[in-house]
Amino acid sequence: MSLLTAATKVRENAHAPYSKFKVGAAIRAASGNIYVGCNVENVAYPEGTCAEAGAIAAMVAAGETELIEALVIADSPMPVSPCGGCRQKLAEFGVPDVKVTMTTVAGNTSEMTLAELLPGAFTQEHMEGES
Ligand code: THU
Repeated sequence: MSLLTAATKVRENAHAPYSKFKVGAAIRAASGNIYVGCNVENVAYPEGTCAEAGAIAAMVAAGETELIEALVIADSPMPVSPCGGCRQKLAEFGVPDVKVTMTTVAGNTSEMTLAELLPGAFTQEHMEGES
């Protein structure tokens, strides 16, 4: 299955009664397996989670910690852009040149690398020096 097919399918399961904005995410891990996630909102608004976070959680729960490609889809006028928090979450598990495809249900698509999405990312190296 392609990332596009997987993300399109899981998007239908999004729980987005507040924003009415359904998002699907699919990531391919180093094994080749695809993990998916959708946004899960909550009546206590800040407790909602993004589609990307769900896909990452599924990957890690399955025992994988390296993503090699990601795709996010929504019914948006322009390619859906991962939020800042999700950029940091994706960067935790992918090298800087991992490709992230952002797309709409109508097929308006753009691509960026993780490094382009999160320039100057906070990394493990920033914590070196602490004893
Ligand atoms: N959302 C995602 O799930 N991923 C994104 O990349 C952008 C935003 C969700 C969060 C919230 O449920 C809804 O979209 C509106 O912000």
